[in-house]
Amino acid sequence: MASKLFSPLKLGGFELANRIVIAPMCQYSAVDGSASDWHIVHFSNMLQSGAGVFILEATGVEAAGRISHGCLGLYSDANEEALARVLKIVRPYSKMPIGIQLGHAGRKASTQIPWLGGGGLKAGQNPWPTVAPSAIAFDENHDTPSAMGDAEMARVKQAFADAAKRALRLGLDLIELHGAHGYLLCQFLSPIVNKRTDRYGGSAANRARFPLEVFDAVRAVWPREKALGVRLNGTDWREDGITIDEAADFAAELAKRGSDFVHVTSGGNGAANIPLGAGYQVPLAEKVRDRAKIPTIAVGMITDPAHAESILAEGKADAIGLARGILNDPRWPWHAAVALGENPPGVSPQYLRGAPRPKA
Ligand SMILES: Cc1cc2nc3c(=O)[nH]c(=O)nc-3n(C[C@H](O)[C@H](O)[C@H](O)COP(=O)(O)O)c2cc1C
Repeated sequence: MASKLFSPLKLGGFELANRIVIAPMCQYSAVDGSASDWHIVHFSNMLQSGAGVFILEATGVEAAGRISHGCLGLYSDANEEALARVLKIVRPYSKMPIGIQLGHAGRKASTQIPWLGGGGLKAGQNPWPTVAPSAIAFDENHDTPSAMGDAEMARVKQAFADAAKRALRLGLDLIELHGAHGYLLCQFLSPIVNKRTDRYGGSAANRARFPLEVFDAVRAVWPREKALGVRLNGTDWREDGITIDEAADFAAELAKRGSDFVHVTSGGNGAANIPLGAGYQVPLAEKVRDRAKIPTIAVGMITDPAHAESILAEGKADAIGLARGILNDPRWPWHAAVALGENPPGVSPQYLRGAPRPKA
């Protein structure tokens, strides 16, 4: 029987050849938000994997919305030109659609690159002021952000729409808005971070208001024949965090407004005990999918092809996100295909002689 993992999936106006999604992964290798030669290396690597779609790393919609000095941005002509240069080199050699994750780091911006020590940037490291729904620092290693006023919220909303227009000019196929892992849109959604007393805080509907306004602003400029979706937290893994029902309601509201998919993950809004294990976030994806009736990507420690296949076959998700697993094995889709009795996908003619064959 044909596998589910290697069956096509329609997301919005275009079709993925299979259901393997390369989840966004920060590379911390940009300069002033502009892609570098490392991005040529990394994109080429991912684009020869045979996955269904490659989602580029969290990309700041304004300079202050980047996580670190090394994060990609899409807020200037220079950023757009740098990404165009990289795409022009790598795109002719793969049919894989390319998406981008647009985000704003809010109170988790202005941090050091992980391999240089991580944590908030210190004096002498060119830190910048951060913003958030409420003036509460992430932890003692981060500066206290300022609470966003109406004008700042309007500016950030416009920045998301402007970055989407740049993504359109770049010919990208999909946008994923970063509403997870404790970054700005996720900060609004979470009662841990959002202590506002205006119409953007309090009830779950109020906390969802700004993320939904951002979604609408992007939907208005992003064509239906491409795909637009949101990465969201199913839980903060804390009693005082967002509930799975609230997350599922948010996804249902996104579906109503024309979201083509959601990508369900968790955590990042503060210290928590996370029950890590293979597929630990799948139950969150399943609940969101059941309630919101929207194509759903499950992600998190899914590395075994049979496990990935069973998640899809049992109707728990529509696609599988891979991050560390595909860095570890950039031909994971080939190996998964063979394990499931399929032909390796997306093999470039130059690599044909090395591609494995399905077991008889
Ligand atoms: C190097 C690295 C960078 C990441 N950067 C991002 C990012 O830019 N945006 C995001 O939403 N998640 C990011 N993540 C999280 C992954 O997308 C993914 O959700 C997480 O690693 C769990 O999946 P995995 O077990 O397959 O790695 C990153 C993970 C890694 C390992």
